[in-house]
Amino acid sequence: MADIRAHWNALHQNKNHNEVSWHQVRSTISLDWILDVVDKDATIIDVGCGVSVLADNLLAQGYQHLSLLEISLSAIEVMKIRLADCLEQVHFYNDNILDLQIQSRFDLWHDRAVFHFLTDEKDQKTYIEKLKQHLKSDGYFLLSTFSPTGPKQCSDLNIVQYDTDKITRLLGADFELIKTTHETHPHPNGTTQDFNYFLFRTKKYPNKGVFFL
Ligand SMILES: C[S@@+](CC[C@H](N)C(=O)[O-])C[C@H]1O[C@@H](n2cnc3c(N)ncnc32)[C@H](O)[C@@H]1O
Repeated sequence: MADIRAHWNALHQNKNHNEVSWHQVRSTISLDWILDVVDKDATIIDVGCGVSVLADNLLAQGYQHLSLLEISLSAIEVMKIRLADCLEQVHFYNDNILDLQIQSRFDLWHDRAVFHFLTDEKDQKTYIEKLKQHLKSDGYFLLSTFSPTGPKQCSDLNIVQYDTDKITRLLGADFELIKTTHETHPHPNGTTQDFNYFLFRTKKYPNKGVFFL
């Protein structure tokens, strides 16, 4: 894909957001797991947020320190209007995750249906480096991807399907799998799509306390 930013901007400008395959009315598993593992003062980033309702759901629960990162300026603009009453609680980053250059570190990094678009090994490695740089020690990585029984493409782009073995091997020894589950997501067109959800935590090593120095 020559210009990934243009691709996603066109999608966000031209498609009805309620009709995209990944649309959710409520952030199901992501929201439930975040509520389970981090307090309301946690710093949370939603990578490739699109126009997802996760931020709305988290703000409604009392979370105060949200960061929304999106490659598409059109999606960011939609989110800024929708969250106009909560702009003090939300930082926006209009960026490709692979180019992220910020100082902040987060208690929880959320990614639903973004990492799986990285089909190039080099890009996957860059993403994981960014994740390690910007996740606090003891931080959580909540990832959702298409499962091996799910689609092989989305938005005319190839994706990589993940099961537990594949994602655990790719992330390497620095991440501990806390839990995983499967979701049959209802596509607005009446069909379904199979997702896997994975919750990882950065590993602590004895005598070190943290692993990211
Ligand atoms: C399938 S949508 C999922 C949106 C959202 N996470 C959700 O669950 O509703 C993928 C989103 O990731 C964004 N995206 C794709 N590649 C990206 C990248 N390299 N960096 C940042 N955002 C990206 C797209 O613009 C799109 O909004």
